[in-house]
Amino acid sequence: NKENLIFSGIQPTGIPHLGNYLGAIENWITLQEHDSAVLYSIVDLHSITVPQDPSVLRQNILDMTASLIACGINPERSVLFQQSQVPEHAELGWILGCLISMPRLRHLPQWKIKSGQKNESSVGLFTYPVLQAADILLYKSTHVPVGEDQLKHLELAQDIARSFNNKYGDFFPIPRPLLSSVKKVKSLRDPLAKMSKSDPQTLATLYITDSPEDIILKIRKAVTDFTSEVTFDPERRPGVSNMVTIHAAVSGMSVEDILNQSQGLDTAHYKQVVAEAVIQKFTPIREEIQKLQTDPGYLWSILNHGTEKAKELAVPQYQHVKKLVGF
Ligand code: ADP
Ligand code: NA
Repeated sequence: NKENLIFSGIQPTGIPHLGNYLGAIENWITLQEHDSAVLYSIVDLHSITVPQDPSVLRQNILDMTASLIACGINPERSVLFQQSQVPEHAELGWILGCLISMPRLRHLPQWKIKSGQKNESSVGLFTYPVLQAADILLYKSTHVPVGEDQLKHLELAQDIARSFNNKYGDFFPIPRPLLSSVKKVKSLRDPLAKMSKSDPQTLATLYITDSPEDIILKIRKAVTDFTSEVTFDPERRPGVSNMVTIHAAVSGMSVEDILNQSQGLDTAHYKQVVAEAVIQKFTPIREEIQKLQTDPGYLWSILNHGTEKAKELAVPQYQHVKKLVGF
């Protein structure tokens, strides 16, 4: 639908892990094939809500860009851009922040988790979801691909859109979530926790540039249980079920076909099958990332081109917002 506008953002965390890929990036690639306008932003403003080393951040922006392109984000079909280069995100964020109360933000689960981990969170970490609302609303987005963990933030963006519309007249569409089919990839070392780049345990997180040897090792060491057969029962057998989820997602096979095909295999042998499927899926992507990493000038030019296209939408929209507010 031509009226639809899809927006999503990802933090420049460097090379994505398997959870980022299956829970977010793969969905982005599918969505860009439709004829709606699609914007994907590397949200570097969000990333500095926690301390960042400037040269590492710059490299992470490039690595995320290379990864997205290698995974299949096509800069001709979607607008891939760097958030900080479109200052209207931060400006709109200020206006929207004036429409929402502190208690409303304080109740968000992500704030409770993240601020609970340290004593002195930044103001930026607190208002992070307001900036996220600005990212979405700046383009009058209608649909937002999000992970389950971001649903509460999307609800906040909806509330902010409604309160803006009530105060200043109907302007923003109410953005709707698009959930990806793979909801959660679990940690290889603790199948009750989600796979995450911030998991301190070694071998817990599979990165999309891991070598075949690393993939084999990590999957071989993945925590499962002592029943040696392949079944899918996320409640009682989270470890083996995570293997099946990963296998299905990277191979495109159904869970049912996988279970039929794996009859008679013990867990150790099944893990070899899964590792092989992961290697097959990510070898071309890894090689493409490595190739793109040798040409930072090309990667910056992609982002700059995307930024120009994003500005074509953002600047007039924000002009309109300013008029409505009385500026
Ligand atoms: P991390 O947990 O590693 O910090 P982020 O919070 O930066 O990952 O998530 C970036 C995107 O990847 C989000 O859309 C999020 O929902 C998705 N994502 C992150 N971890 C997983 C996971 N284990 N399974 C599925 N999706 C995930
Ligand atoms: Na996170």
